[in-house]
This record gives sequence, C-alpha cells and structure tokens, in this order.
Amino acid sequence: MKQVKLFDDFYQFNSGSDFIPITFNQYLLLGSEPLLVHTGSIDQTKELLPKIKDLLGSQQLSYIFVSHFESDECGGLGFLLEHYPQAKTICSEITARQLKGFGITHEIIIKKPNETLETDDCQLNFIAYPSEMHLWEGLLVMEEKRGIFFSADLFIRMGNITDPIVDSKWAEEVKSITDQNIPSSSAREALQSTLLNLPVRYVALGHGPFLKVQ
Ligand SMILES: [Fe+2]
Ligand SMILES: [Fe+2]
Repeated sequence: MKQVKLFDDFYQFNSGSDFIPITFNQYLLLGSEPLLVHTGSIDQTKELLPKIKDLLGSQQLSYIFVSHFESDECGGLGFLLEHYPQAKTICSEITARQLKGFGITHEIIIKKPNETLETDDCQLNFIAYPSEMHLWEGLLVMEEKRGIFFSADLFIRMGNITDPIVDSKWAEEVKSITDQNIPSSSAREALQSTLLNLPVRYVALGHGPFLKVQ
C-alpha cells in the first residue's frame, strides 16, 4: 500500500491487486475532525490502520464516508470501528441497512442526496449515486472548501498509478459516464447534469490517480 500526500492535510492510500489491474484507493482528510473516505477490503484496512494511526497519533477518527455497499468500499469497516469505535459512518439509507445486516451497530449518519454536513474542516455536499447491482442508491460526496469530488467507481483508470496527480477536463470526465457505469439512461443523465454544475477542482478516484481538472 502506497501513501501519497496530496495536500498538507490530505492523503491518498492506494494498493494494487493480484486479481485485477487496478488500484484501490482510500483518502484521509486531517483536521480537528478527521474524515476517512472508504476503508478498502478488510485486508486493505489492516494495512491502512497503522498508517492512519501514524497520521492521527492520539487523535480520534471522526467520520468514515462510505459511498456504497461493496467490499472494496467498506469491507474493513467493522475492523476499523474496533479501533475507532466513536467514528461516525456517513452513508445512504440503503447502505446503512446493509451495514446493520452485517452486524455494524456503531453510530451511522444517514444522508440523502442534496443534504450537506458541515464539520470543523469540511463542507460536504452529498449527491445521489445509483450504484452496483440493483442500482441501489448510494452517495457521492463533494468537499466544497477544497473543491474535491470523491467519485467512488466513476471515472476509473485501469493499471498502476505512475503519476499520482493527472490533469483532466471535468466536462469530458462527466461525459465519459456510460450505461456500463449506470445502466439507466434517466439516472445517468440526471447524475451527469448534477455533476456538471459542481465546482470541482480535483477528483479523488476510487480506482486510479488523483485528477486535477479544469
Ligand atoms: Fe463499488
Ligand atoms: Fe470500487
């Protein structure tokens, strides 16, 4: 697992896989209320934990954002919560239901699309994300103070990360969402029109490098 310092208070952790030529990324925003975006699978979380502990020191982890219910996004959540039991998981209602079904009993903050959450360090704006096999409603999140959009499984780049930060154009990224990503034309078009209106400066991919967009 590689640790990449993107900003003074913002880190990416990425690891490759023996099964698929892709990286799996998690992100940590430091501050007085640290936020982790995705845990990775349990094996990835076990590698991630000492890195988080090193960066946080005696500080607690305040929030864990989970965009949708899948092992590479939240497979290690139960394990992580054993170490940071006071961390609040932020997710959609459907994801919360899945987590409860898998025995997660820690505090969950359920957010709906268009809702926000202001922390000491972040202004989070949540966006509807029709995701995975049933197009279950997940969430995407935009951190407005820094202009970072966390894109989960959208805009994926295959292969290893060679350049940690890559330039791109936001409108072209949004246009690249196809029916393979979201197999419902109306849901895809609604998401694309929402995304085009966001003041995005950076895209934190779930799989691939960090994008600087214009
Ligand atoms: Fe996923
Ligand atoms: Fe993913």
